[in-house]
Amino acid sequence: MISDSSLMEKIISLCRRRGFVFPGSEIYGGLANSWDFGPLGVELKNNIKEQWWRWFVRSRNDVVGVDTAIIMNPKVWEASGHLKEFVDLVAECKKCQLRLRADQLRKTNCPACDLKLPVPRRFNLLFKTFVGPAEDSASVAYLRPETAQGMFVDFEKVVEVTRKKIPFGIAQVGKAFRNEITPGNFIFRTREFEQMEIEYFVEAKSWRKHFNHWLTEMKKWLKHLGIKSKNLEYREIAKGERAHYSQKTIDIFYKFPFGWEELYGLAYRGDYDLKNHRQTYRDPETNKQFLPHVIEPTWGVERSVLAALIEAYNEEQAPTAVKGETAVRVVMKFPHWLAPYKAAVLPLLPKPSLAKLARSVHKNLLPHFSCEYDETQSIGRRYRRQDEIGTPFCVTVDFDSLKDKSVTIRGRDTMKQERLPINQLTAFLEDQCKS
Ligand code: GAP
Repeated sequence: MISDSSLMEKIISLCRRRGFVFPGSEIYGGLANSWDFGPLGVELKNNIKEQWWRWFVRSRNDVVGVDTAIIMNPKVWEASGHLKEFVDLVAECKKCQLRLRADQLRKTNCPACDLKLPVPRRFNLLFKTFVGPAEDSASVAYLRPETAQGMFVDFEKVVEVTRKKIPFGIAQVGKAFRNEITPGNFIFRTREFEQMEIEYFVEAKSWRKHFNHWLTEMKKWLKHLGIKSKNLEYREIAKGERAHYSQKTIDIFYKFPFGWEELYGLAYRGDYDLKNHRQTYRDPETNKQFLPHVIEPTWGVERSVLAALIEAYNEEQAPTAVKGETAVRVVMKFPHWLAPYKAAVLPLLPKPSLAKLARSVHKNLLPHFSCEYDETQSIGRRYRRQDEIGTPFCVTVDFDSLKDKSVTIRGRDTMKQERLPINQLTAFLEDQCKS
């Protein structure tokens, strides 16, 4: 049994060692809580974003996508209430400067040096910048703290160009920025992150039905991502603790190794946003003009990546090359669709004839899947390297392959090996890795 603190350390170390995620700007000493996604991390992240888009946009007739600007007219943030309401209450210890958000305050004294903490003050989380050369109040702008507002301010335009009738949704995937007071826990809370959001517009009277529909959809997605239901909790957020725009919120909490924390959220935003941005809707049949209400399911990309990494991490005792001996095998048991590489093609030995065939097998797979070619070290080590990054299948080219045009497929989870004709490989992997 791996303890929670060591699990987090192991995942961070694996991410760094294998190039999933590492500290940003590291050659300059890094920048606190800034992370770069490396070659494997970006595959994982892209798989999540692409899959999400396929599920919730492409395969539905009632959702369309947009990609709106990160820097919007500052009036947007005035109208949306973010300039006034997007605040955290923060208490800063006068002695050790430790900062705590109000929701982290368990006692009235500083947990580090025990000095009495001052009354928490309001801190706006919007990331401020200046547009153009002048740094004056007329040039102030903000990096968007949620992708949602781009979809609200474009509402009428999207209805006009798509002729969608409500109920229908607008979806967006993109960066959001928040000047978080207490970023941390690896990629869990950062100042720059990505969201996958849907603003689903409905008639006021039917909001509950759609709210429940989206909750069900979110549950299905979590299962697909490989998250065990025992690690999830659906918590209704009390009135005083909800975001300023929300009339009902269910946050989906995940049992991270550092405690239960919000993974995703589902909010009923009423007509708050469309009203503030003066966007309306005219029913094409009745010609009646009214304000649709909004159901908003929202997913954090980095939190999805982190939860998927935690769920996938496994340590097992596995046989070694020495008969009767075992060693710990680290294996990332990602769902196949999510794995950064679907297959690794490995010549059994570094012989030119095997390498030549293996390279051609790899080349033929590349248009269909992300996959790796590896001819370094012993075959056992190469299997372990692939297990550690979650590659579902290793494809080994051996001397028999030269004659029978078949390869050995080794499954990541079962470690079982079977022979397969090379000309059936693409179809086999397509079937095994489909989402
Ligand atoms: N439009 C609604 C909205 O932004 P939110 O609960 O503030 O709601 C949505 O954010 C999701 O974005 C969260 O459930 C979480 O997954 C992710 N998220 C929020 N703040 C984050 C941060 N500082 N770092 C990483 N992800 C974050």
